[in-house]
Amino acid sequence: MTTKTARNGVKSKERVRQHGEVFTPDWIVDDMLNLHGIKEECARLESKFLEPSCGEGAFLVKILERKLKVVNKLHNTSLDDWETHAILALTTLYGIELLEDNAEICTMNLSEVFSEHYKKACKKHKTDINLSTKRAAQFIIARNIIEGNALTYRKCLPKCGNKCNKCEPIIFSEWTPKADGFFERKDYTYEGLIDAAKLSGTNEGDLLDNINTEPTRHNARPYKTVHFRELIKEESG
Ligand SMILES: C[S@@+](CC[C@H](N)C(=O)[O-])C[C@H]1O[C@@H](n2cnc3c(N)ncnc32)[C@H](O)[C@@H]1O
Repeated sequence: MTTKTARNGVKSKERVRQHGEVFTPDWIVDDMLNLHGIKEECARLESKFLEPSCGEGAFLVKILERKLKVVNKLHNTSLDDWETHAILALTTLYGIELLEDNAEICTMNLSEVFSEHYKKACKKHKTDINLSTKRAAQFIIARNIIEGNALTYRKCLPKCGNKCNKCEPIIFSEWTPKADGFFERKDYTYEGLIDAAKLSGTNEGDLLDNINTEPTRHNARPYKTVHFRELIKEESG
């Protein structure tokens, strides 16, 4: 069960007029994700997706559900196996949304889908939820779903009319899976990723994959490769 505040895809005429806010109905999302090539990528746990105006996460939520079904089926020999692959699936889903309430609902929806599947996996393995895993999942979702302006590449405040060029840049983390549930984190500015994709002659669809030009790293301090349950600790140093 995810939160959907606008059953007909519209919250108010004002929001449609100001922000083009019309949510995609589930059946269209399903049809689009079933397209040849996309369907296969939705089932590939490492495949990365960015929804640049993600609203309440119409696409991201469905992709997460598809990926978690794969985890349930193929990586469920132990709870550890399930957690490692489910966390991998989560790390690959990115969103940008201008409006605070939508960004929050998107975050919540992804979190709920993860929790529901996690509870079922725990039940199957007759184990309790590991709070560190739950927190790691929430941390990754919170880092990957960004309230910001996909056009200015910045976390513009409403008072700048979402047009300023001064606010904090949007920073995305790339989470590279290593052995045994360890992940390497590297941060990039969204603008840097777009520039590198352009320099490589690829399109924005290849932001963190298939680009030959290494985008400029954002953080001054490199992050240590750590187990996913340690990602929060590693962020605070
Ligand atoms: C047409 S809706 C689509 C939402 C979602 N992708 C879906 O399919 O249901 C467009 C969304 O983009 C957001 N939006 C509009 N301008 C934006 C911008 N410059 N950067 C990020 N999000 C933006 C709106 O708030 C709205 O939620």
